[in-house]
Amino acid sequence: MSLDAATSKPHERLAAALAADLEDVNSLIRDRMSSENAPRIPEVTAHLIDAGGKRLRPMLTLASARLCGYDGPFHIHLAATVEFIHTATLLHDDVVDESEQRRGRPTANLLWDNQSSVLVGDYLFARSFQLMVETGSLRILDILSNAAATIAEGEVLQLTAARNLDVTEDTYLKIVRGKTAALFSAATEVGGVIAGKDEDIIRALFDYGDALGIAFQIADDLLDYMGTDATGKNLGDDFREGKMTLPVIRAVARADAEERAFWTRTIRNGKVADGDLGQAMVCFERHGALEQARADAIRWSEVAKTAIQRLPEHEIRDMLTDLADYVVARLV
Ligand code: IPE
Ligand code: IPE
Ligand code: MG
Ligand code: MG
Repeated sequence: MSLDAATSKPHERLAAALAADLEDVNSLIRDRMSSENAPRIPEVTAHLIDAGGKRLRPMLTLASARLCGYDGPFHIHLAATVEFIHTATLLHDDVVDESEQRRGRPTANLLWDNQSSVLVGDYLFARSFQLMVETGSLRILDILSNAAATIAEGEVLQLTAARNLDVTEDTYLKIVRGKTAALFSAATEVGGVIAGKDEDIIRALFDYGDALGIAFQIADDLLDYMGTDATGKNLGDDFREGKMTLPVIRAVARADAEERAFWTRTIRNGKVADGDLGQAMVCFERHGALEQARADAIRWSEVAKTAIQRLPEHEIRDMLTDLADYVVARLV
């Protein structure tokens, strides 16, 4: 292993291995985010796209296609499609969550307004559909349109589950599978489909993406409590919004009467005062709720690693294995 490979993070190694393809994806994104008639569209999109982001989902598509020996041009379209879907959901999500920071920048809803974020998000969704149609594959259209519907479903389920202390771990899993894992699994699956691989390979890619996405979102929910400014997002948003993420579900399940009153006041009734976030952390600590959620994320990352082992040996397969470890250990 070179020094570079030893020190860089798995997603950086993947980005290096897929650099030429990623460059093509970025130029296709830039090309398709344009609009002749409404300059607000490229303005808002560039604000988000230029801030970077990890480009995890397009990398998953490129990596899957490479791993499957695909040598056509359409993996670029597919990778751009998934990043467009991701970008559209982020614009909408920041409106729904009333978030003020994304990728280290003020959110589009803060800088412009909710209307712009919603409408530009819609535009990017539509653009993503145009891109996937260009592949000529109805199966791909089926997979990605299903993913788009499932993401929206996950977001709506989360909305209706917020501030409900009775939410179960099963419901939480449905939410994260919908809002996050659906796009991860579609991103990996379409890489196998475009390469015309056998169903067992396509299934393994799907299973990897699904488990990786779940692990990723559990870790992301932990970062909302334990992260640093490096996430580029406001910490503690989930608590203030009454989101029933895994640590809260676990801590509520084990709460004594006094803790129950605390969760009722803060999560249920939204009456959050200074110091409450610290108090939530004390409750988590008391019941090992953060450690348990981290253990769950690790379990899902193991599921992902087992799934990707079903693919033939390949340098990219090893990077995807390392990526599964990284998503649960990440700090951003
Ligand atoms: C953010 O995803 C949305 C979640 C599913 C938590 P990422 O953390 O992949 O966002 P970027 O693209 O790197 O900014
Ligand atoms: C991200 O969900 C949005 C989608 C997956 C659609 P969150 O609301 O949990 O993520 P952040 O913290 O805003 O990135
Ligand atoms: Mg959000
Ligand atoms: Mg959200």
